[in-house]
Amino acid sequence: MAKFNKIGVLTSGGDAPGMNAAIRAITRRALQHGIEVKGILGGYSGLIADNMIDLTARRVSNISYMGGTIIYSDRCPEFKTEEGMQKAIETCHRNNIDAIVAIGGDGTFRGATDLSIRGIPTIGVTGSIDNDITATDYTVGFDTAMNTVLECVDRLRDTSESHARCNVVEVMGRDCGEIALKTGIASGAVAIAIPEVPFDEDAAIARIKAAKADGKRGMLVIVSEGVFTADGKPYSEVLAKKIGAETGVETKFARLAHIVRGGNPTLRDRLTATEMGVFAVDLLLDGKSDAIVAEIDGKIVSTDIRFALTTDKMYKKKLKDGQLDGFSAEEIDAMKAICAKREADIKRLYDISLGLCR
Ligand code: ADP
Ligand code: F6P
Repeated sequence: MAKFNKIGVLTSGGDAPGMNAAIRAITRRALQHGIEVKGILGGYSGLIADNMIDLTARRVSNISYMGGTIIYSDRCPEFKTEEGMQKAIETCHRNNIDAIVAIGGDGTFRGATDLSIRGIPTIGVTGSIDNDITATDYTVGFDTAMNTVLECVDRLRDTSESHARCNVVEVMGRDCGEIALKTGIASGAVAIAIPEVPFDEDAAIARIKAAKADGKRGMLVIVSEGVFTADGKPYSEVLAKKIGAETGVETKFARLAHIVRGGNPTLRDRLTATEMGVFAVDLLLDGKSDAIVAEIDGKIVSTDIRFALTTDKMYKKKLKDGQLDGFSAEEIDAMKAICAKREADIKRLYDISLGLCR
């Protein structure tokens, strides 16, 4: 078992409900093994600025139910520079921090790998509402975000039903349409637009007209923020105007934006965050570094960060020449299989939604 005296935990990138449950689990699992824990305040900026607090068993009491992150988060461009990273490493040495657990999304994991390479063992725990990390089936925060969308959309449904209106709702997710797709299906949306699948606008408009003629009153359309017009405008707003102009159904537009990032985490997120947090500390104790905690087929497992980030690039068709160098043929096949599964899952759900939208 590797020996650690003190570890740091940080949350970085967009915050996500469930991050606090992960912080509690990491802290208490480490304390169980006699390891002190420092909470780095404000992600990688806090590491650069040497801004941290002691995380004790009491300090992490009563936080699992809270949204946000008690140790704050941010996006830190300086950390991407060699100078910024050196300052972060110096902070670790000055404070005798032997290892870091970094909770966040793919950007955060890129930072984590940089720390590992420079001698600070680092493990990543997923925390992102977007569920956009290809190498894990699940990211902490996704379930809460989807339930928050559902709650908002159900409210819009009440009023659109009363007034016989259509509501076009834009939801977050960056370039991943999973929040839109799954909440669209669960809320019975008449149309769903996501970046992963071409959107048939004419068919959607025809469907709305037919539904109106058939006596349907309230209608919902869910659009992912990652869908843009050819000239780069948010497609959600453009579509709302078109539906209003072409269907004769009065159409309102709502952008849920950061509302979807806050709120108390669901049981799913508290539990998964807790399991992932415990697993992250156990990985460090096993001498592992440069890995993320993933959920694959319902199991909490570890995945090499470079494998995870490269799989992500492959899925997003952003692989550059040479980026597969160093991976074995089996690993490349495994990446392709993960990408194909994700694509197929999204396509299957989208096809189901098309069959039911009317
Ligand atoms: P997320 O982790 O949610 O994907 P970001 O992409 O904003 O969020 O990344 C969070 C932070 O991780 C960034 O602000 C930066 O400090 C760090 N980071 C992102 N990309 C890199 C990179 N290529 N190298 C080092 N650090 C990075
Ligand atoms: O990655 C989480 C997320 O909420 C995305 O869904 C969204 O595109 C982005 O972060 C918003 O970032 P910010 O909080 O910096 O506006």
